[in-house]
This record gives sequence, structure tokens and C-alpha cells, in this order.
Amino acid sequence: MIIITIDGPAGAGKSTTAKKIAQELNINFLDTGALYRAIGLILAKSEVRPEFLYEALNDINININKSGVYVNDFDVTKEIRTPEVDELASKYSALSEVRNALLNIQREQAKKASLIAEGRDLGSVVFPDADFKFYLTASPESRAQRRYNERIQRGETANYDEILQAIKSRDEHDLHREISPLKIPDNAIFIDNSNMSEQEVINFIIDKVRGSI
Ligand code: DC
Repeated sequence: MIIITIDGPAGAGKSTTAKKIAQELNINFLDTGALYRAIGLILAKSEVRPEFLYEALNDINININKSGVYVNDFDVTKEIRTPEVDELASKYSALSEVRNALLNIQREQAKKASLIAEGRDLGSVVFPDADFKFYLTASPESRAQRRYNERIQRGETANYDEILQAIKSRDEHDLHREISPLKIPDNAIFIDNSNMSEQEVINFIIDKVRGSI
């Protein structure tokens, strides 16, 4: 069993990279941002008051698998990818109750089978003993450009300047929150992919993993 973690800021390409590595190595893939997105969405929708947060979280059942993300059996796979949910996830992920509730869900996934997980605090907090830790980043401008291209390819409208601003504000929030801020985990291999193709990053990570096992 192996655990591989990829941490890094929004839009660095962690998800697509990790998904392809999972296929190549034939291991499971866990997108932890999707968990924070699902929780943010449901808490905002149900307008939970802060004093009832703990109880509300106990009643939320999140299930993430190959076909999508489900909250209490509702399919939220598409709904969690909107710019509004970008903000909600970032906001709710700063709360310790939310982070604690998700900690066990994430660790459970690694008990079942080998896993590549991506997020913000996987190498530092969730899986500090991971076999391989990577930190994937790129300049805010190249991350914004990729997000812009993705939205256009999906046939959506997009504004580069707005995306860049949103990325910078999420970075600010993710880097400076008190609990589990985004940081480079101890022993993580740092990759700046501003000038690398997706395939180059995938090959680099797979070479590292295969070279050591
Ligand atoms: O990777 P993403 O954009 O889907 O993540 C959505 C939000 O969730 C992001 O603003 C920060 C938060 N997050 C987190 O705090 N810890 C993680 N391990 C993953 C995501």
C-alpha cells in the first residue's frame, strides 16, 4: 500500500494530474477539495447557525466515488464546480469543525487501498507519514490562464481578470487561515509547473514513485 499526496494552491492542476497518475499506477484517487466544496455548498444552503455546526456536520453523509460526489445521496458533482462554491469552500474550510469532520473521511479512504490524494494539507496534516509528498504550484497568472481555458472549453463564459483576482484572493485565504494553512509539507518535493506541460509533471512524479519502490 502506498500513499501519495499532492498539495498546492488553486488552479495548479493538481486534480487532473493526480487523476491521471492514479490511472497509470492503478491506485485510487481522492480529490479532497471536492469534499470541502460539498460541505460548503450544503452548509450554505441549509443556513446552519454557527452554534449548530457540529450537529449539522454529524448529519451530513458525504460519499465520493468514481461516478461523482454525493451529499446525503444527492448528486452534487456538477454543482460544486461553480465560482460561488469556490468561495463557499474556501470560507467553510477555515472552520476547525469542518476540517475535523473531514479528517476521518479522508483517512478512511487510505485504509482501503493505495491512494493518491490532492488538496492543501495532505502531506502536512492528513497523511504526515505519506510515502511520497509533492507540492505543485505555478504563478497566479498561469493558473488563471488554465482556469480560463478550462471554462472556455466547457463552453462557459469567462473573464481572465476576474479569474486572476479570485485566484489571488483564494491564495490569500488558504495561505493565511489559522488552521491547516496551505504550506509546503516537510519532505515534499516542490514542483513549479508554470513552464511544464501536464504530461511532464505526470512523468516526473511517476518516475519519482517508480524509482523508489
Ligand atoms: O482544490 P479546490 O479548489 O477544489 O478546493 C476548494 C477549497 O477547499 C479551497 O479553497 C481550499 C479548501 N481545501 C482545503 O482547505 N483543504 C484541502 N485539503 C482541500 C481543499
